[in-house]
Amino acid sequence: MKTQNKKPLLIANWKMNPPSAKEALALAKKVDQGIKNISDVQVVLCPPFVYIPIFHAEKFNFLLGAQNCFWQKQGAFTGEISPAMLKNLGCSHVIIGHSERKNYLSETYEVIRQKVKASLDVGLIPVVCIGEKAQGSPNAKRELELQMQILLADISRTQSSKIVLVYEPEWAISSVKGVQAATPQDCEAAISFMKEVLARKWGEASAKGIHILYGGSVRKENIREFIEKGGADGALVGAASLNAQEFVSLVKESILG
Ligand code: 13P
Repeated sequence: MKTQNKKPLLIANWKMNPPSAKEALALAKKVDQGIKNISDVQVVLCPPFVYIPIFHAEKFNFLLGAQNCFWQKQGAFTGEISPAMLKNLGCSHVIIGHSERKNYLSETYEVIRQKVKASLDVGLIPVVCIGEKAQGSPNAKRELELQMQILLADISRTQSSKIVLVYEPEWAISSVKGVQAATPQDCEAAISFMKEVLARKWGEASAKGIHILYGGSVRKENIREFIEKGGADGALVGAASLNAQEFVSLVKESILG
């Protein structure tokens, strides 16, 4: 069983929710109130882009993140948002390569690789999503390794302490009705393997310092076992982060004691 040697990191990915700024601010304020006395966990909220300036104007107890960015610094790229824009609006983190972007927007590994580099270049922490497509795939390890090789290709050992990885098995994301989270055993196997790949790339010591989160149907009822038994240093939370009470309970549950 795992001892908690890193401060757990809980990242709320609100995806394309909620529909109005008023609701977004109300939800953020409730989360903020709920976590204000908690210092043993780092919480990052990633709302849709349009709410970032509103949150930036508030003094919140959580860090601010975005759900995506473009890879170029500026220019004629209609509809895109640069890493520097996010940094200038107070973001510390940016989710890169979420499976929903791969699946709905055909985002490729090559594009994700460039986004990882571009975000590091401006001092944003890329939260890089890695995971196999199908449950029980015999090629799962090969898929994970290939993704890591491509997505992390431009990152030096020194920069490795500035990234967060997420083991996000696509088959475990709650947006498909009836989907189940991975088991803590699935999670442990994948995260140990990811650590091996990182150790081969940057050495054991650097690999140990990198936060690896789990993402996929995380709830207040299962977060603890992903940390205790699954080897996760925290979680990327989708649906459960849209309910302040649920999310705050989940944050509290992530503190092993
Ligand atoms: P759920 O927590 O809703 O399964 O979403 C997981 C995810 O995609 C996190 O980014």
